[in-house]
Amino acid sequence: MDSIAQLKKAGIHAHGSAELQRYEEHLVRYFTREYKQLGENHTACLADYGISTSNGPMWQETDALMSQHYDERPEFFRAFLDRKYMAYSMAYYGETPDQIMASAYTLEEAQHVKFELICKRAQVQGHERVFSIGCGFGPLETYLLENYPDIEVTSITPSQVQAEYIRQRMQDSAHPLGCGRMKLIHGDFAASSTAELGGAGYDLVFAVGMFEHIHNLHSAFRHIAALLPADGRCFLHLIVSRPLFPQYMDSGKTLIGKYFPGGRVWPFSELQKQKDYLDSVGSWYVNGLNYWRTLDEWHHRFWKNMDSLHARVLSVDDIRHWNDYFILCKTVLFAPLDGSIYGNGHYLFRNRP
Ligand SMILES: C[S@@+](CC[C@H](N)C(=O)[O-])C[C@H]1O[C@@H](n2cnc3c(N)ncnc32)[C@H](O)[C@@H]1O
Repeated sequence: MDSIAQLKKAGIHAHGSAELQRYEEHLVRYFTREYKQLGENHTACLADYGISTSNGPMWQETDALMSQHYDERPEFFRAFLDRKYMAYSMAYYGETPDQIMASAYTLEEAQHVKFELICKRAQVQGHERVFSIGCGFGPLETYLLENYPDIEVTSITPSQVQAEYIRQRMQDSAHPLGCGRMKLIHGDFAASSTAELGGAGYDLVFAVGMFEHIHNLHSAFRHIAALLPADGRCFLHLIVSRPLFPQYMDSGKTLIGKYFPGGRVWPFSELQKQKDYLDSVGSWYVNGLNYWRTLDEWHHRFWKNMDSLHARVLSVDDIRHWNDYFILCKTVLFAPLDGSIYGNGHYLFRNRP
């Protein structure tokens, strides 16, 4: 019996199977109904629920987040992420639901287009000293170093698995990360002093897929502003919701919190209000069907590589755990109401002169 048949016997259904398709359609119908009912909540703000953006630690539960998520075995991430960048954030297929669903991009192409869009919106010139918070396996770094011969990048991640992956590529002169213009800090952004991060020596700070883990926005922006000279820029890319869902501000209250201890989904408008340290230059809502397509392709590749994952990497319980993760993110967050409820926010800020 092959892995897919064995897992089906254990009640775990494969991507593309009739059982899983029916289940996902059911969940999308359920959450579409829920979100339509919550429509009037669009005007609520965090303060109405006693949620502060400026109290407490910048980050919470980073150790649990690493051990339960980012430090999963590298073979797991390699099985589903795109082969060129190993990006672990939304790819970009298009602006409108129709464009996104009709796009012929491969995952690799859609990640490339995402980085092009980010660099355009961040006004990258090509000579900057860049700091990247939460660099994952270095996808933005790979794109920047390959496309801009004068750019220098310093990146930070607390993940042992990600740091090890990047260090190996930095030894490989054939890889963009091995070009000699890349520096890695293996550590926690919140726990590192400005001096440890390199001081105010950067022109542009990026955080791609990382502000979902931040609790105290105020202290995060203060820490970022300290890295930038006057007129330095900061570009953020993160999962956001259009209406406010207070339960997503507390990872203990949602199933998705099981995968991201300490994680939260900020309302799109909340980041637009953050003006204590940096000036807001522009913001864009990126339709969530882009993330649905990204996750669906990750889910597809996860199952395509199931024989080797099942035999050598993941237990049956692990497979159930990660299969549920792809299903939940796709159907609870990004598919309902054509990606208009949950998507990604892009934000450009500039330091004051
Ligand atoms: C969703 S991944 C995105 C990775 C990468 N930017 C990409 O686009 O593929 C989130 C990243 O944030 C990092 N992260 C989480 N907590 C952090 C912290 N306290 N300090 C620095 N990075 C952190 C994780 O290790 C991971 O690299």
